[in-house]
Amino acid sequence: MGVNADLLASFKSEFLGKNKSNTDAGGVTASMGIMDVTNTADYKIIEKIDDVYGREGMNNPYFMSRSGHLSNKVTCQEKTFICYSGYNYLGLANNERVINAAKHSLDQYGTHAGAARMVGGEMAIHAELEQTLCDAFGFASCVTTVGGYMTNVATIGYLMGKRDLIIMDEYMHNSGVMGAVMANSRRIVFPHNDFDALDVLLNENRGHYEKAMIVVEGAYSMDGDLADLPRLIELKKKHNCWLMVDEAHSLGVVGKSGRGLCEHWAVDAEQVDIIMGTLSKSFASCGGFLGGSEEMIRLLRFFAPGVLLYSTALPPASAAAANEAVKVMLEESWRVENLQHNVRQFSQLARERGFDTGGSGASAVVPVMLGDSMLAVHLMSDLQQIGIIAHAVMYPVVPENEARLRFFITSEHTQEDFIYTLDALKRILANTTNFSGV
Ligand SMILES: Cc1ncc(COP(=O)(O)O)c(C=O)c1O
Repeated sequence: MGVNADLLASFKSEFLGKNKSNTDAGGVTASMGIMDVTNTADYKIIEKIDDVYGREGMNNPYFMSRSGHLSNKVTCQEKTFICYSGYNYLGLANNERVINAAKHSLDQYGTHAGAARMVGGEMAIHAELEQTLCDAFGFASCVTTVGGYMTNVATIGYLMGKRDLIIMDEYMHNSGVMGAVMANSRRIVFPHNDFDALDVLLNENRGHYEKAMIVVEGAYSMDGDLADLPRLIELKKKHNCWLMVDEAHSLGVVGKSGRGLCEHWAVDAEQVDIIMGTLSKSFASCGGFLGGSEEMIRLLRFFAPGVLLYSTALPPASAAAANEAVKVMLEESWRVENLQHNVRQFSQLARERGFDTGGSGASAVVPVMLGDSMLAVHLMSDLQQIGIIAHAVMYPVVPENEARLRFFITSEHTQEDFIYTLDALKRILANTTNFSGV
């Protein structure tokens, strides 16, 4: 094992004992010195991670210092790793056209958007990007923002209020959960991808609230499975709700040409009230966006705090990079094809070796389910020692006993990467447990 087992065990007991709430720093009482952040439960976890891995250096899987591009490979402290922890799904962050578009934009506009768009003025590159996104994904209208996380918080937080109902999949990303906290609405979670349960919950609750919103992810960021869009549209119509779909991990990945969940299910994007996406994954940049009706997007543009209001616009070079990335994705269809082929190949090779990849296979997120958090942490460390980066995900991010290693697959990974990785994983697991695979 690459790390000290006793320290890991105590890390486990503290980490797993942590309250699931992300709204405060956790577990401070007045007697502990309430103003001293080092007394918070979360700070103790950071210190434990330092104890386990060393504060810096090659053994610590968190905040590793890296250089150069991140694609299927990454260089950290002069060592090259096969990397499964990046979102550069289509390899566009290191694409010459995308890089040149960003450079050109820097020359044209400088580094800065100037101000919030409402007062600082509109730059052509923002409008161009929003039109590119409308054309690519079938939105009637679109607005781009500085961050994907904030896009969910701001949109849900602004549109919904205390007399409203937000009903979301239990695996919804934290940004959606925090949007609901900001909204101060009644929040109900439904069991993951269980639309019969959603129907029942809406039957029981919808009538008590004014507005209602169903919030789901297109492709789930921990499990890699997809939401059933036709069923969701049927339910949102039946119960008179808005439907918001977070397509952070499905746009650029899912659907024959990467156009996301709507393409996958052959559904018109205008049937979904709000499609949220990020520019930070397939589209090689940073920022978020919202697609919807003219009226919905107009409202959010003007008044949703953190969408455009009270927030400086997306830097022009980031907008230009994303704009070019979407165009390259559509023109070079082999990228999405390679990515989808790689996902199938990785999943098949994993299953052939006896690994459980859950319900994944339709998106670039492929978990290898391990169950035990300690095992996941150990395997992460041991893989890192032999040049493979794949991060462990455990409670409270996923349910207890569903710890896993999460693999983000890209169009640039090779069969050689997969075989090396999965053989190593099988070997280490066999040495650590009684896993024999198949
Ligand atoms: C499902 C989901 N939504 C939203 C976000 C936030 O996007 P961003 O990283 O662009 O802020 C993430 C981030 O990984 C995500 O996984």
